[in-house]
Amino acid sequence: MTRDPWHFRRDQLAEQVLGTLARGPAQALSLFAPRRAGKTEFLIQDLAPHAETRGHRVIYASFWQAPLSPLAVLLHALEKSRESGGLADRVRASAWKVAPKLKLSASIPGTGTGAEAEIDLTRLKGEPPANLLLHLDDLLGRVSKTGKPTILLLDEVQELARNRGNASLVAALRTSLDKRQEGLRAVFTGSSRAGLAAMFSDREAPFFHFATPIDLPALGTGFVDHVVAVFRKTAKRRLDRAGMVDAFDRLHRNPYFLRLLVQRILYDPEHTVGSALEDVRERIATELGYPEAWLGLTPLQRETARALAAGASRPFSQDFRGALGAALGGDAPSAARVQAALRRLERLGIVDAARGVWELADPGFGGWIAAGGEDPE
Ligand SMILES: Nc1ncnc2c1ncn2[C@@H]1O[C@H](COP(=O)(O)OP(=O)(O)OP(=O)(O)O)[C@@H](O)[C@H]1O
Ligand SMILES: [Mg+2]
Repeated sequence: MTRDPWHFRRDQLAEQVLGTLARGPAQALSLFAPRRAGKTEFLIQDLAPHAETRGHRVIYASFWQAPLSPLAVLLHALEKSRESGGLADRVRASAWKVAPKLKLSASIPGTGTGAEAEIDLTRLKGEPPANLLLHLDDLLGRVSKTGKPTILLLDEVQELARNRGNASLVAALRTSLDKRQEGLRAVFTGSSRAGLAAMFSDREAPFFHFATPIDLPALGTGFVDHVVAVFRKTAKRRLDRAGMVDAFDRLHRNPYFLRLLVQRILYDPEHTVGSALEDVRERIATELGYPEAWLGLTPLQRETARALAAGASRPFSQDFRGALGAALGGDAPSAARVQAALRRLERLGIVDAARGVWELADPGFGGWIAAGGEDPE
């Protein structure tokens, strides 16, 4: 396996996460971090190889904007996991890319197909068929391994909670995992605290209190030093380290954003860290859709988000509402109107109260808003 030279290894964290998973008491962890903070990279490039060298089988499935239904994604990941090689290689190999037809490893009752049945994954829409849920359970049973539990990495799992149509799949998955407490462990990731809360903190949800929640720790100056060193090797030029440390902070310690910045300097030697930072900020805003999200808000929603981004809390207080009124050129809105604005912002994934206070869900978006956002005019 050829490693990406820019990848900064997180061995200690991988060890820690694997230890927590293996020891329990929880059978699962839920790992939160904002968009582009390095969840997937950690799962595939750090945690998976680490677990594999210790004899665990690792299976990865991502529910993020998948063109296929979650059931199809899971069936595909489980069937493919039976192929040889490590996870990182399987992910890299083009053969791993989702093909519409999947050969099943067992015959499925009721489908009229014999062993080696082939199903068209793109047709698995809507309510999951009961026979395929049974096949899913059978597959999970076959990969389960007592003593060296198999590790399921389920990425962007909040997508499962978004759609009621997934309820029976989520319930089936919970039952399948419960049956194999000794042989299966899971890491769920999400980039929405509210979405993860809907999966794991809602009393009605099948996965209520199933996973120990952890935040993916932000990368530190070790990561910046690594990037500075790889740059020197690649470009035979030096980067201003202090400038890079400062830029990393300004980019909310987001590794993807820092790598974009370095690419800019790599391809255009005229750039300084400062000028590249300006460029990258615009690119990030566009790529993550900040301007569209911002312009889609009503003035009250926008001012509410702006006040939260500026650090105000207690949105129902007289002060907060008075400031909103002043910004909108009118009277202070009622607490009920502020509440409605917050609920809408929450549904859009822009704010959440998962940590006990209302705040911007994505610090990058918060920073962009606090820096002025973009006027609708
Ligand atoms: N440990 C690392 N070393 C070097 N670069 C990293 C590291 N972690 C993340 N990155 C960079 O950040 C990018 C985004 O990481 P990743 O896709 O893992 O984030 P994510 O949290 O899964 O984001 P999303 O919410 O968009 O799925 C990577 O493509 C890579 O460029
Ligand atoms: Mg990801």
